[in-house]
This record gives sequence, structure tokens and C-alpha cells, in this order.
Amino acid sequence: MFKTLSAVFLFLAIPFAAHAQPSSVSFNAATKVFRLDGGGVSYVFGVNPRGELQQLYWGARLAATDSFPQAAPLPELASFDSSYNNTPQEYAGWGAGLFAEPALKLSFADGNRDLVLHYLRHTASTNGFDVVLKDIAREIYVTLHYAIDPNSGILARSATIQNREAQPVSVEQAAAAAWGLPPAHYTLSYLTGRWAGEWTLNQEAIHPGARVIESRRGSTGHQANPWFAITAGEPSEVSEEHGEVWFGALAWSGSWRITVEQDQLDEVRVTGGFNPFDFGYVLHPGESLEAPVFYGGYSSSGLGSASRLLHLFELEHILPRTAATATQTLPKPRPVIYNSWEATEFKVTEAGQIALAEKAAALGIDRFVMDDGWFGQRKDDHAGLGDWYVNPDKFPHGLKPLIDKVHSLGMDFGLWVEPEMVNPDSDLYRKHPDWVLNFPGRPRTEQRNQLVLNLARPDVHDYVLGFLDKLLNENDIAFLKWDYNRNWAEPGWDQLPATEQKRVYVNFTRNLYAILAELRHRHPKVEIESCSGGGGRVDLGILRYVDEVWPSDNTDPFDRLTQQDGFTYAYTPQIMMAWVTDSPHWLNKRSTSLSYRMLSSMQGSLGIGANIAAWSPEDAALAKRLIAAYHQVQPTIVQGSLYRLISPRNGSEFSATQTVNEEKTQSVVFAFIHSTQEGRLFPRLKLQGLDPTAEYALSPIEGKPHTGTPSVASGAWWMNHGLNLDDSFRGDFQAAAFRLDKK
Ligand code: DGJ
Repeated sequence: MFKTLSAVFLFLAIPFAAHAQPSSVSFNAATKVFRLDGGGVSYVFGVNPRGELQQLYWGARLAATDSFPQAAPLPELASFDSSYNNTPQEYAGWGAGLFAEPALKLSFADGNRDLVLHYLRHTASTNGFDVVLKDIAREIYVTLHYAIDPNSGILARSATIQNREAQPVSVEQAAAAAWGLPPAHYTLSYLTGRWAGEWTLNQEAIHPGARVIESRRGSTGHQANPWFAITAGEPSEVSEEHGEVWFGALAWSGSWRITVEQDQLDEVRVTGGFNPFDFGYVLHPGESLEAPVFYGGYSSSGLGSASRLLHLFELEHILPRTAATATQTLPKPRPVIYNSWEATEFKVTEAGQIALAEKAAALGIDRFVMDDGWFGQRKDDHAGLGDWYVNPDKFPHGLKPLIDKVHSLGMDFGLWVEPEMVNPDSDLYRKHPDWVLNFPGRPRTEQRNQLVLNLARPDVHDYVLGFLDKLLNENDIAFLKWDYNRNWAEPGWDQLPATEQKRVYVNFTRNLYAILAELRHRHPKVEIESCSGGGGRVDLGILRYVDEVWPSDNTDPFDRLTQQDGFTYAYTPQIMMAWVTDSPHWLNKRSTSLSYRMLSSMQGSLGIGANIAAWSPEDAALAKRLIAAYHQVQPTIVQGSLYRLISPRNGSEFSATQTVNEEKTQSVVFAFIHSTQEGRLFPRLKLQGLDPTAEYALSPIEGKPHTGTPSVASGAWWMNHGLNLDDSFRGDFQAAAFRLDKK
């Protein structure tokens, strides 16, 4: 139903036509070489004569008959770089003259900080290994976990660090894994942003030195996302369809860091895990620390193929299943939602929400979601967070009349919560001022007039789980939009001894996961969205417990095209919620047609967030028609193979995407014009991923093909000749969409 950490390392072999070769794992006792094969990928490492676990190969799948000699350490470089520093390791301890990023850095009670990890033993499973390393002298054990997905070849790697010394040790830096690539020219792709500007794709040559992408904020953050892709060659050679790609994503929703280094021998090392900034986790004798999981994959055919591998992997292995989808290969596509936030902000009332619900139902909406403002003394963002009782002025009879009405209209009901936060103006804070993150005697920095509850505390954990459980027990709620609207300041946990307080960086996030898991266990039909003022908490860690995410508070349909493009490099469109909101847009003051707004949102999981009470009958009719059209093709859009045909990035005049379902029986094409210049016609779209020998019928969802375009043609025609759009498809902020169905 929901994924536990151990489940992460048990990949089921879900049949998938693309990769016929079975997966295998092997250990050659003579050469001490470990090998994992899955999908189109081989991953190989071995124990060198010194006992270090050395990286040997990560790339296209090798023949089963291929073998590797025992790993040989790289030589010393003059007297400045030792062999230990030059040799690429799977999980290097900081010691023995290591200057590259360590995977693990410890401080022992006696002041010793030298750590050198050597192979001790291993156990094998169907799709992976647990390899135990031990310090050369001290009782520090590190178990490296490996599993390879038979379909995609994506590896899950993590580490468990155990202290069996008689004294405590402080873990100052702990990675999930380190990945290595041999010397060559490479380009790094990564995602950055800010509030209302998430998902910017950056691409730059990898140079000597380090590029650090990270969050020090206590949560994933809008400013960088824990995903990377490295392509062979220079930035000008990066391609959607060609070339080798190594990619990875870290499953952690707290402070994280990924360091991409090119070392003194031009090798590339990617190390990721807990952010070592302000980190310090004391392991008492016998205690262990579990690092997050770092997923890594490889494709030989471009960034497009890499993201398609990740999308399917997320659908098959990361996202939770509800009771209804427990036996299905993929989770179900998201309901089309209505959300009241942009229509009402905090001014929610029973009558106002019912009026919106009636309009929403008439459009064909599946789920009605009431956003912020329904609880405590929440009139604006100054008060109420923490007091999760229904506001009696706004809802005199509780939520039941609204929920019953929503059900009678044929929709299910969702509700906004922000469980980890508290306003100082709340009963909760007045009662428990000690529950927030703080350093005694220092200011408590407010952002959006709120403070962060210290979820690492067992009593806060119990309070949050308790009120959410009660809310779900007392009300027929199908969905929670779980918001998180600030980052940390003063991250103190003053109930613990000074040496223990930094545990907050681990325990907060673990408790968040535990609450989400327990809620899903107790309420198996409830679905959850991860929102953090937009896309501030999107990562493969939280995605084990939530069904969808809110990518950005920026709902401008033009900005969203670039955001959605960036988002899909790392994450499946299935989880990418996209609301149609009002025009002119509140953020950019840009005016766009409803048709353009609808098609922009239909690239992901569609929602409506406009003030539909004020819509004209014509607008309502258009939205109703397009929601019905969307419902027909939604699985293809959100779960099919995505081809980014023309990128909207860098002010592109045009953009286009295409998705194809797994059976290759249906495809959906979206085309957008930013602003036609010099009368230019939309480029001919050479489609991809179709069956060349099958016949496909073209039907417009919105817009027209060029006069004379065949209504039925082969996959070969659509892919080689391509689709021309009508000459009239010109102007500012224009959109068209088509579907192709196999005859
Ligand atoms: C931030 C979210 O991203 C918005 O969609 C909305 O839920 C507000 N919070 C409510 O305060």
C-alpha cells in the first residue's frame, strides 16, 4: 500500500516489453567483482587488493560473458594525490588523505577523525547486494544497499552506518551513495528555481572543481531539486534523443546535497545524501543511521529516454498505491480537481463553497478541494495555523453539509492542511510555545507570520498524527492537500543535550514520513498532495507517500509551459498538478484565452482553480468540452511515454510535446505559440514513438491540422512526414491539441 524503506530494495519484475533481457546480480569470488544487470544497464564494482570498494563500470549493458579483472587502485600522482584519493570508491570514508568529497566523515570521542572503510562481507538477493564495510581498526560498520530494477536498470543505493564502539561517534557527513564516471567531456543538467519560478533546467559543462546543488532549508526547497543528469559531450551536444546519459535522484525531503566534482584526474564523482551543513548525528554505542536512497539510472539515447525511464520507474516503484490500485501495475490517473484558493483565498464559507461546487460539478470535475481558511481563527495568514477545528462562523454545522453537497454532486471532497506549522496567534502556540524549532534566548524568525513545529519531537509527532487522524475519522475526506509554507530558521531542539540537537535534520523528516505512512495505513482510501508554497517539497522521498504534487504557485499558463518542461526531466506528468486559473493572471498580468490556459494545464494532471462562479456560459461550455476530451485521453498524457518535441525554454517562439501510451494505440500532441514573428508558420511536427506499420486516425482536440492532412495515415507517415498545423495557427499565446488513435 505504501512503500517502506525495505520495500524500496525489492523491485518486482513487472513485465515491460522494452527490455527483454532478465536482470541478474553476480559476485565473482576469484576477482571480487560485483555486477548488477537490469534493463539496458550494467553496474560493476569490486574489492581492490587494499580492500576498498572501487567503482568499475556504469553504462550500457554488457554481454553476460564479459568479465572484469580484480579492481586495481589508481596510482599516486607525484607526492600530492595519494592512491587512496585518486581511486574512485563506492563509499569513501574521510581519512588516509582523501581530498575528494567523502561519503562518510566521522568524529570519534577521542578526537580521532580518520576513517578508512574496507570490504568485510556481503549478502546477495534477487536484485541486489548488501555489502558490509568496516573501518580498518575501529568498530564502525557501513552496510551498502544495492538493488537494480529489472525493467529500467535504475539502481537504488543507500547506506546504513553503525557504531559498535564503546563510545559515541558523531556523524558529520553521510552520503547515500557516490557515483563515478571516467574522464571525458560531460555536461551537467540540474533544476533550480525560487518561489513561483521553480523547475528551471540548467545545463553547463562539467569543469574541474565542484558544482554543489543543495538545500540547507530543512526541506527539499524551491531553489534546487535533488535530481541531476550528466550527458556525454559539451552542452551544445545535449540531445533529447541521442547520446549517453547518467542520471540520479535523491529520495530525501530534508536538507540534502549533491556534489558533482571533476577531480585532479578528470574523473567525475557525484556524491549525495544528507546535507553536511550544520549536520551532526551522534551515534551511541549500538546505534545506526540510515542514509536516504539515491537512485541512479543510465540511458544510451538522450535525455528524453532518461526521463521516460524515470517516469515509468516512479509510477511502478515509488508512488503509493491505494486499496483500489494495490494489484494494478500503475497507480490510477489523478481525478480532475477544482480548488478554491485563487477564487476565494481565505474567504471560504459554506455557501460560497457550495456555489463553487455546483459550478464545478457542471464542468465535469471529479474532486472538489477546499483550500486554506476553513479552520481556527484563520481570516488571513496571521492566525489559526495549529488550531485544526472547523471555524464555527464560516461552517456553523461543521464540514458535513458541504461534504454531503459535494458528494451529492458526484464529486469527492478534499481539504487543505498545513500540519507542521503554527501561527504565534493560535491556541496551540499559546499552550505549547516550546513546540517550535528555536534556540532559547534568540529571536524566533517568522515567515508568513508562522513558525515551524518541531516534528522531530515525539509529542509534536503524536499531536500532528492525532489531529489528522481525527479529521479523517470525523469527515468523509478523500484527499488532503498537505502544504508547508516556509523554511527553517533557528533549527534548535532545546529539549535535547547540546550534542544531540542536530538530530533534528534527520528525525523531523523521518517523523514526517512516519505520519504520512501511518495515515495512509489507517485511511487507505485517502490520497495526499505534497505542496510547499508550490514545488518546495518534490523529491523521491516524499513521493513514496503522496499521490501528486503542486509544482508551483505560479499558474500563469505561459510560465507553466517552461516549468512543466523542466519538471518532466525528473518527474512523471502523472503527479504534476496543473490548474486553469483566471486571466489576466495575478502574477504576470498576462491575458490569455481560456483555450490556451486549458491546453497548458492539460499537459499534466488537470485541475481548475479559477473563480468559476464568474465564468460566462461560453467559458463554462469550453471548459466542459475540454475536460471531457481530457478524461478520454488522460492515461496517455500522464502515464504514456513523453516526447518533448520542441522546448519552450529560452523564449522559444514555439513549443510542443507528445505522449504515446504503452500499447502504442493512442498518442496526444500539444502545440503552443508564444508570439508569432514574421508570419512564421508552426514547424512541422515529426512525431515519435508510434508503431510505424499501424494506421492512426488524427482527431483535433483543439485547433486544426493543415488543409489536406490525411485523417488516417501510418505511424511511419506521422513520424517521417509529420503533422502540419493549419496556416491560421498564428498569433500570441495560441494552443492546439490533437489525438491519434490506432485504427
Ligand atoms: C500555498 C499553496 O501553494 C497555495 O496553493 C495555497 O494552498 C496557499 N498556500 C494557501 O495558504
